[in-house]
Parts: sequence; structure tokens; C-alpha cells
Amino acid sequence: MEEERNLDFDTVVDRRHTKSVKYDFFVECGLVKPGEDSNGILSLWIADMDFKTSSFVQDALIRTAEHGIFGYSESQEDYFRILQDFYHRRHNYEIENPRWVLKTPGVMFAIAMAVKAFTNVGDTVLIQQPVYMHFADVIESNSRNVVSNDLVYGEDGRYHIDFEDFEKKIVDNNVKLFLLCSPHNPVCRVWTCEELLRMGEICLKHNVIVVSDEIHNDFIFKGVHTVFGSLSEELADNSIIVTAPTKTFNLAGVQISHTFVKNPKLRRALRNQIISTGYSQVSIQGLVSAEAAYSKGDVWLNALLKYIKGNIEYTSEFVRKNFKGVKLVPMEATYLAWLDFNGLGLTTAQVDDLVLHGARLWLNSGTKFGKTGAGFQRLNLACPRSTLAEALSRLKVALDSVK
Ligand SMILES: Cc1ncc(COP(=O)(O)O)c(C=O)c1O
Repeated sequence: MEEERNLDFDTVVDRRHTKSVKYDFFVECGLVKPGEDSNGILSLWIADMDFKTSSFVQDALIRTAEHGIFGYSESQEDYFRILQDFYHRRHNYEIENPRWVLKTPGVMFAIAMAVKAFTNVGDTVLIQQPVYMHFADVIESNSRNVVSNDLVYGEDGRYHIDFEDFEKKIVDNNVKLFLLCSPHNPVCRVWTCEELLRMGEICLKHNVIVVSDEIHNDFIFKGVHTVFGSLSEELADNSIIVTAPTKTFNLAGVQISHTFVKNPKLRRALRNQIISTGYSQVSIQGLVSAEAAYSKGDVWLNALLKYIKGNIEYTSEFVRKNFKGVKLVPMEATYLAWLDFNGLGLTTAQVDDLVLHGARLWLNSGTKFGKTGAGFQRLNLACPRSTLAEALSRLKVALDSVK
């Protein structure tokens, strides 16, 4: 039996000069001036991992490359069975029919298509900020309005939903679509069944379609992730579930995502929207990667989750022992730590400056996720432990210099 080879998460892999957005775009992203060296800035922002994917995925891509013909490609019955098995095995979710699955090049593409298919220009879409920045971008750039049911940062350091505000925002703004992030990036919440049901019921009551972005669904460290479509028949009929193997198996560059749509009416509308853009088949690289990852990637994925859990524990301990005025929001999910710098009493610009110039770290500034992200920074801890340790030590030195 072939064995997984890519289980070394400790070795630092040099990703420079690989067309990596995370490592090759310091100048374009305004971090350094043209001609200047990045001078050892650690890149811990965009959500991909510094780890090689499963060797089964790597080998499948090599076999495809060696074949040398990259013609129009499509999945068949076995592909569906693999996807179905994975969701049954790891999420206790039954994709009952191959027809439910629409393949797209990415989650944001699928979300953009859903916004166009299920709302009209001028309509309002509900999101819950602070949330993944491209939610607002994709809504607004399609001439729809954004309204936010801001998540509440509780005394317990966790984020909660204000359900009264959730319903009021829907009614007051005649909301047509709710874009849910489950689990939530960047606040790291795994929504409970009760929370999901309550949001779902309110949406049903006011005829709001739910688009549930579940791209981070495999990174669960506390609690259980519930696929939105498994809550009830009615909620399954009123929602679409957007997923991908790309976050889980570090495949963002190959571009493949799966949207599960049980309701034939919604499916038809979404499919027509996708077709009308001129998009038909996903890439051969996407197909072979997803197939290998979902059928043979469990050993790699389990080891990865263990490693990331270790990084979360390391970070949590380090922050508690060494950082004054900075807190880590409890990480129930994702590999993206949400750090609260508000205890320092600095402005957003000062926190950004401290992180980039003081600690020489490239993180995501909290306000990118909405105004309620002010004073926060998002740190991607899917990297070798040594890189994480270096980043946290640099941050400690920078924080110690704050009077
Ligand atoms: C919540 C969420 N949705 C979507 C995406 C992007 O997905 P894709 O690259 O498939 O468009 C990300 C990437 O970080 C994300 O965090």
C-alpha cells in the first residue's frame, strides 16, 4: 500500500519565486518599495498554508502533467462518490444526488454567482462583520448593498450573534440573501446547531435565501461543525452550501470548489447564472486534486490538524504569558488567529505600524474585515512551528517597546 509522504510540517519550504501571492508580491502590495528587499518580513497574512499538500495529490498532479494533454475535462460518477463519501465520513452530511453538486473554480466565484442569481441590482445582502473582506467586495461590486449584523465581542472573549438585530436588519433593509460564514473567518467561531437553526428560521420567515460559505469546515478544534443543509428539510431547501478542498488541502492555486444545492429551483437559477458567464468546466488540475485529496488525503489531513492544533496551543500559551494588552480570541476553528490589540490604547494605524515596522510581520489589519475589526490583526498560523515562534517573539519585542 502506498503511504503518505508529506507529513513533515516542521521543515520550512522556500516559497519565494513560485508566483506565490503570499511571498512574491511585497512590492505590489505596498510593503516595500521597488528595488527594496523585504528584509526578512514574515508573511503570515493570506489564507494559504506553508505546507506541501498530501503526496497523493502531488502524485496525481504529476501523473496528469506527465500525460501532457490538458483537454476539456469533466468528472464522472466515481468523482461524485468520493465527494459523497468524504462528506459522509467527515461531516455526517449526505449529498443525496449528484445533481446537487455544482463545480466552480472557487468559493468566491460561486458566491458572486449566487449574489447575481438570487438578488437584483440595488437589493441588500446581509453579512456578519467582522468577516472575510471579499464578502462585502463581491456584493458591492455587483451593485448590491451590504448590511451587517455585527457580531458581538462578548465579555468572555468570544463572539456572539445579536439575533434581534439580525431580524431587524433583515426587515428594515428588505434583505434578500444572507451570506453566512460557517465556521467563521476571522472570529474563529464554530456556530452551534441552535445558532444556525435560529438564523435559518428567521431567514425562512422573511424569505431570505442563505448562502453558507463552509470553506473552513475541516478546521474544527472545538465543538462540531454542522453543515447548514443538514439542519432540516426546509433549511436545506432554502440554502446553498459552498465548500472546497482548497483550504483543507492547500490547493488554492488549482482552483476547484463544490456548491451543494438541494432545491432544484435554486440550482437551476445558479447554474444558469454560471453558464451565462461563459464558464463550463473546471480545470483538470482541480478535478484530479479534489479526487486524490478526498479519497486518499485523510492521513495527511489528520496529521495536519494535529499540527495546527499544536500551533494554536503554542500561540495561546505564548500570548497569555508574554503579551501585555493583546488577547487571542479563542480558536474554535480555522487556522487564522484573531488577535485583539485594543488593550494597548493605540490607533489602528499605530497597531498596523507596530506589526509591520516594529515586528516586521505581514498580517491582515482588522479593519479590512469591517469597521468592527478595528484594533485587531489576523495571523495565519498554518506555518512551521519555528516560523510561528519567531513571529511571536518579534511581536513580544515590539510590544515590550510600547510605553
Ligand atoms: C471564508 C472564505 N471564503 C472564501 C475564501 C476564498 O475562497 P476561493 O479561493 O475558493 O475563492 C476564503 C479564503 O480565505 C475564505 O476565508
